[in-house]
Amino acid sequence: MQDPRTTPLPVEAHTPVKERIAEVLAASFGRHGRGPQSLLQHLIAVQRRFSFVPATAVEILAETLGIAKPRILAAVEFYAFLHDRPRGEFDILFSDNITDRMQGSGRLMGLLCERLQVAPGVTRADGRVTVERTSCTGMSDQGPALLVNGVAVTRLDAERVDRIADLVAAGTPLARWPGDYFRVEDNIRRAGLLLGDPQTDGRSLTRTLAAGAVAALAEIERAGLRGRGGAGFGTAQKWELCRRASGAERVVVCNADEGEPGTFKDRVLLTTYADLVVEGMTLCARILGAHTGFIYLRGEYLYLLGHLESVLARRRAAGLLGRDILGHAGFDFDIAVHLGAGAYICGEESALIESLEGKRGVTRKRPPFPVTSGFLGRPTVVNNVETFAAAARILERGADWYLCQGTAESAGSKILCVSGDVARPGIYEVPFGTSIRTVLADSGAERPQAVQIGGAAGATLAAAEFDRVVAFEDLPTTGSVMVFDQGRDMLDMVANFARFFRHESCGFCTPCRVGTVLLEELVEKVLAGRAGAHDLDEMRAIGAVMRQASHCGLGHTAPNHILDTLDKFPDAYRRRLCAADFTAAFDLDAALQEARAVSGPSDGVSHLAEA
Ligand SMILES: Cc1cc2nc3c(=O)[nH]c(=O)nc-3n(C[C@H](O)[C@H](O)[C@H](O)COP(=O)(O)O)c2cc1C
Ligand code: SF4
Repeated sequence: MQDPRTTPLPVEAHTPVKERIAEVLAASFGRHGRGPQSLLQHLIAVQRRFSFVPATAVEILAETLGIAKPRILAAVEFYAFLHDRPRGEFDILFSDNITDRMQGSGRLMGLLCERLQVAPGVTRADGRVTVERTSCTGMSDQGPALLVNGVAVTRLDAERVDRIADLVAAGTPLARWPGDYFRVEDNIRRAGLLLGDPQTDGRSLTRTLAAGAVAALAEIERAGLRGRGGAGFGTAQKWELCRRASGAERVVVCNADEGEPGTFKDRVLLTTYADLVVEGMTLCARILGAHTGFIYLRGEYLYLLGHLESVLARRRAAGLLGRDILGHAGFDFDIAVHLGAGAYICGEESALIESLEGKRGVTRKRPPFPVTSGFLGRPTVVNNVETFAAAARILERGADWYLCQGTAESAGSKILCVSGDVARPGIYEVPFGTSIRTVLADSGAERPQAVQIGGAAGATLAAAEFDRVVAFEDLPTTGSVMVFDQGRDMLDMVANFARFFRHESCGFCTPCRVGTVLLEELVEKVLAGRAGAHDLDEMRAIGAVMRQASHCGLGHTAPNHILDTLDKFPDAYRRRLCAADFTAAFDLDAALQEARAVSGPSDGVSHLAEA
């Protein structure tokens, strides 16, 4: 695999001149083309080189791609990893998932800021460094973690942070930082049907070619494969809908956005099982008759870009990708890797397609669904990384082999990402139907109080529910399993997720845009000990509206953790209430204190309490 330290380009700390910007963009045009859909990739190239997107770059892009400047500026504003002002030569983002917090990331970030004499979110006056927080970076099994110039640093502790402060202070380029800082482990603790064997030899493709598209699709149908990205839609059904859709060109997209907090299985699949994933995409293309494929790789996994591109190149050289695959005339299919830029909503398939087209990742109205009108209006299949890997294994070994595990409605296995208060965090591939209690025992959880399954958007389980099982008919999950022991305050989790959703809401629809802000404020009010019982009712009411009236899945699921914990962990809220009923959201008397101090009024009515 490519050394991750060689992936980030050195940031050019001085103000970029027009010629340098044009040079960087010319290289990016050569790589990604000049179509409007390539905009995001060019913006990322410029951002990585100059630490921001200068106005000159916007002008060149507007002229070359034929896109209006306001649209380009809107894209820069939308993506968290793009900036219109210079960031530090070392741009450091601490992963802010609750598991990072539980491992001490807050304290470590404070330590680094203190050592470097920089305030969070403010670039130091000499332009050397910016330190800030970002949403979960997909390293919950080896946190606390951070990104430096886009590349992950794992297993932080006080000593490592101290050393990082020295390296930044000395201006040491990343290529000279200790390689161990960038080591990302797979941490596979239990392998099953998919992970048992990282090898794949193209057999699923030869079998697909021999059997024909219809028979291959029937095999996937018989295996009962359902999408692993969350919704659990039947994979064969999705592929069949796309196959039948009218339109000359079809597109296959692998959703590697993996933004759900606490999820990291796609990272492992793309690291060690990338051939299996690419093979799944290729046989999907054969079944659909598609020639174009994309892997949409979350920006946080920048360090995997070089590795994935080398896997694709190797497969092209081996005749497993490109023109006339496996010598089959007309079986042409190729894949490009597109980077995201820090937006959780881009995991939602229609937002992902918008992002692939170079735009802001705002969800589309549906119907039409991507299977009939997706990337550039073409019929498009979007599947999760794990779904493609499972499809390849099924066509390699047969549906009967796959059906030997699972339940009536959930065939095969599920890859879980276990983190939090466990002795052995990491990847556990379990047969569907496995109980949470078994997963907790396997991973060494002592005195667990709660499990958050399916990430921030998932469900909070209390101890009484630990016999429930991982299955579409009971606990469907993207894979994230975060464990909280009895010493944890569940409101720390609630506050973290409320902040996450407020930050990640794309702002398109009112219930979610306003609802996420109100929920975060109410959670803060409870934490500050200023809330009354009425505020808890208010949270329920807002959550209900968001579930019902939001435009997309983000808004529908954003209140889950609050509604679940209100029901299952009521004491975490109640013991902080300061009134049985209503308290004002705003402390007017306290807010007037400063004005009173300045004007020094002597009248009694200037104090509300005395009035
Ligand atoms: C806010 C939001 C974020 C999502 N993030 C992801 C993601 O990171 N990866 C993923 O595969 N699916 C994600 N999904 C689900 C996708 O929209 C889509 O259902 C999935 O990629 C389809 O693949 P599958 O059929 O293989 O599950 C997300 C959905 C929502 C609403
Ligand atoms: S629900 Fe939230 S994320 Fe989805 S469209 Fe509305 S504002 Fe955007």
